[in-house]
Amino acid sequence: MEFREELKTLKDQVKFGESFKVDRFSNIVIAGMGGSGIAGRIFSEMYSDKPVFVSDDYSIPNFVDENTEFIAVSYSGNTEETLSALEMAMKKGAKVHAITSGGKLGELGIDTIKIPSGLQPRSAVGYLTMPIINTFIKPSPDDVDEASRILADLDANNTVQENIATEIFAGRRIPVIYGASPFRSIAYRWKTQFNENAKVLAYSSYFSELNHNDTMPLRDTYRKDEFYFMAFDSQDERIRKRIEVTQKITGTQFKKIDVRGTSVFARSFYLIHVGDYITYHLARLRGIDPQDVSTIEELKKRIA
Ligand code: PA5
Repeated sequence: MEFREELKTLKDQVKFGESFKVDRFSNIVIAGMGGSGIAGRIFSEMYSDKPVFVSDDYSIPNFVDENTEFIAVSYSGNTEETLSALEMAMKKGAKVHAITSGGKLGELGIDTIKIPSGLQPRSAVGYLTMPIINTFIKPSPDDVDEASRILADLDANNTVQENIATEIFAGRRIPVIYGASPFRSIAYRWKTQFNENAKVLAYSSYFSELNHNDTMPLRDTYRKDEFYFMAFDSQDERIRKRIEVTQKITGTQFKKIDVRGTSVFARSFYLIHVGDYITYHLARLRGIDPQDVSTIEELKKRIA
C-alpha cells in the first residue's frame, strides 16, 4: 500500500474496538520500541488512575509482579527488546498480554490482540494504541466519532501541513517540536516521524520543562536559523503565556500548531495525524521513500 494510503487508514483504526479483560491490578507496564512503543507513551498521558511505566528497553522495572498488567506491543512481533522484556515479566508472574500483527510474539500463545498486517508500524498507531485505551479508558462513541471525522478532514485537505514541510525543506532546517501536557509524547512522536519518514534528525521537548533548559540556547545557540521551531497550541493559559514570553525574550519565532477536537482523545489523534502529514510531505519534497527502513532492518539483522 502506498504510504499516503496507509496514513488514510488512521480514521478507521481509531474505531478498532478490541480490548483486554483485566481484573484487579496495581500498575501497568507497556513494553515496545519505536513505532510500536509510541502506543504506551500516548496512553500514559491520557491515563492517571494507576501508575503506568513505559519500557523501551530489554529489561523491566523491579516492581513488576503478579499485580502488574504487562502489555508487549510490537507490530512485527519480532523486536528483541520487547520480547526480552516480556520474558522477564512472565518470569515475575505478571499478567501478560500482547498486541501484534504476528511474528514470534503472535506465536507465544499468551493473551493476544491480533492487528492487521501490511502497514509500517508507525502507520498502525491506532491499531497499536486502541486496545490499551479501550481496556483502561473506554473512550465514548462520541469521542471516537469526532476523532475519526477530523482525521478524515485532514486526509482530504493537508495543505497547511504541506506548506510547513515546504518551509522546512526550503531552508533545509532541522525540525524542533515543542509540546505540552497531555501531548508531550506526541511531540516525541513527531520527532520519530521526522526521523523515519523524512529521514531527518529532529528534536523534541515540552513546556514547561523546556523553560528550565532550552530557554538559554533558544537565545544563545549557534546556527539558530538552521532550526525550524514548532509549538503545539495549548488550552492551558499558563502554557500559552509561556510560549508567548519564551518567543519574546529569546527572539525566536515558533510556528504555532493548531489543535482540533474537543476531547483529549480526539485532539491527540488529530495532532498525531498533523505530524504524519508534515513528515510525509517533507519526505516527498526530499524525494525520499517514507516507507524505507532498510538501515533499521540491516541493524536489526547484524545484531541478531
Ligand atoms: O516504525 C518502525 O518501523 C520502527 O520504529 C519499529 O516500530 C521498531 O523498530 C520496532 O519494531 P516493531 O514495531 O515491529 O516492534
